[in-house]
Amino acid sequence: MLRTHTCGELTISNLGETVTLCGWVQKSRDLGATTFIDVRDRYGLTQLVLNTDNDATLREKAKGLGREFVLKVTGKVIERTSKNAKMITGDIEIAVTDIEILNSSKTPPFIIEDETDGGEELRAKYRYLDLRRNPIRNNLMLRHKMAQEIRKYLDGLDFIEVETPVLIKSTPEGARDFVVPSRMNPGEFYALPQSPQTFKQLLMVSGFDRYFQIVKCFRDEDLRADRQPEFTQIDCELSFITQEDILNIFEGLTRHLFKTVKGIDLVKFPRMQYADAMRLYGSDKPDLRFGMEFVELNGIMKGKNFSIFDNAELIVGINAKGCAEYTRKQLDELTEWLKRPQIGATGLIYCRYGTDGTLKSSVDKFYGEDDLTNLAAALSAEPGDLILILAGQSQKVRKQMNELRLEMGTRLGLRNKNDFAPLWVLDFPLLEWDEETERYHAMHHPFTSPKPEDIAMLDTEPGEVRANAYDLVINGTEIGGGSIRIHDRTLQALMFKHLGFSPEEAQKQFGFLMDAFEYGAPPHGGIAFGFDRLCSIFAGLDSIRDVIAFPKNNSGRDVMIDTPSSISDAQLNELKITTTLPL
Ligand code: AMO
Repeated sequence: MLRTHTCGELTISNLGETVTLCGWVQKSRDLGATTFIDVRDRYGLTQLVLNTDNDATLREKAKGLGREFVLKVTGKVIERTSKNAKMITGDIEIAVTDIEILNSSKTPPFIIEDETDGGEELRAKYRYLDLRRNPIRNNLMLRHKMAQEIRKYLDGLDFIEVETPVLIKSTPEGARDFVVPSRMNPGEFYALPQSPQTFKQLLMVSGFDRYFQIVKCFRDEDLRADRQPEFTQIDCELSFITQEDILNIFEGLTRHLFKTVKGIDLVKFPRMQYADAMRLYGSDKPDLRFGMEFVELNGIMKGKNFSIFDNAELIVGINAKGCAEYTRKQLDELTEWLKRPQIGATGLIYCRYGTDGTLKSSVDKFYGEDDLTNLAAALSAEPGDLILILAGQSQKVRKQMNELRLEMGTRLGLRNKNDFAPLWVLDFPLLEWDEETERYHAMHHPFTSPKPEDIAMLDTEPGEVRANAYDLVINGTEIGGGSIRIHDRTLQALMFKHLGFSPEEAQKQFGFLMDAFEYGAPPHGGIAFGFDRLCSIFAGLDSIRDVIAFPKNNSGRDVMIDTPSSISDAQLNELKITTTLPL
């Protein structure tokens, strides 16, 4: 090896040793008689020192070193006069005897330190330099540690890691597919997997019993902070199990990760029905780091000649504790925030519970003291609190109130990144009505089994049928989702029928799976965690981008390698691709 030690390990116990280090110049300070150089590698930083004891040529060489030059340095470990208690190597420095420049470097486009002056776009273009910075590298080291612990835990429970293909046929997970043209089969395309769903089910038919894979998935969908076009799942499937077994095993995995990676003992995860999550939080992924549950107010607010409430399908309130002092300006600003098209509320009604015990609402014309006292009681409000109310069509109001609750939670400092509130959401509806296509879609995916007691409702009230499906939510983020699957051909065919597939279409697209069900398919079920999301929660980040080594930006571009990009006419010809559509 070129070096005897790394830049992050020498301490006072190495005093007097002659060592050789390799690394990048982070900084150098020329104080005339003395030159200090900080040399960095993945493991840390070590200070080098040159002074009048060194010959002039070496000192000149040291003075000529620029940021990010790659060095091989030999010298003696000596004690520092001014120590740095924050660094492992902070008690020592290296009295340099030789410097070999392994490579020079252009001046980097931004400062490669924990705090950088580089903007997002610039850092993305030079991602390989951004990855030299500690915060980003630490995220990837955390990701590595988590992957190791996941393998350890699942291997300990007899899961077998199996790779499934990447060039496949469309799997319906609800997003668009990325497609790959086939040169050998002109006019035909592969699809990249949105998940290995059908393959993992086939592995159960093959008798693998317990499968897992840390696997890349691809979805062509609109991007957000927690969505990338290619992302990683911890994908799992098990045979001969119940939903209860799956919840326990994967709650166990999550607790194992929190314990081994973060040293946190989580208590048993609460469970909530989908219907309750929607009623109390207006979301199927409620952030339970704080309360502020919805209180439905139709009973006490209707019938007082206030037409907005009288005409509303649903009136919902939340109690923003300690916010009675909100000024008119703050409330107007909150109202405007709610009226933005992204949220789309028509207005905000409020009621202040003053610290003097008085109740004052924005609709005092319609509601007397008794009404407001009832309102305050319904929301368990106390002097000093502020009640916020929205009204309108149920689904819309719940969505808007969810946004308002999260915003108030943030403003009140109730969403601490170091608090973790996991939650299982259970009993999702099987089907979801899609206004655009005017038909039902599978809420999870078409392979999810309905609850046996609800199957009879498939024909009469399809929207009411519940699925054996579950999600793991942490701090308001959907970390994972899964279900008990259909393993019977007839039921699977019935499901496709309800999703609007003709028998021919179903056979063409999923015949391989339904055929497999005729050869002794075991009862099975599974789950997939979003690995990037889990890592970003562990790292306390808002976006999954910085737990991914080479992520795409919000337009789905990798600005470093400049992709997507056009391909040559020769390639297009070879693939027999022509387009008559204007780009
Ligand atoms: P689902 O579609 O719920 O289930 O995906 C599982 C988990 O993957 C994560 N995820 C994403 N992460 C980053 N970027 C994305 N674009 C993205 N899309 C999804 C989420 C999500 O909870 N085959 C089923 C699982 C099963 O039934 O076993 C599936 O893929 O954290």
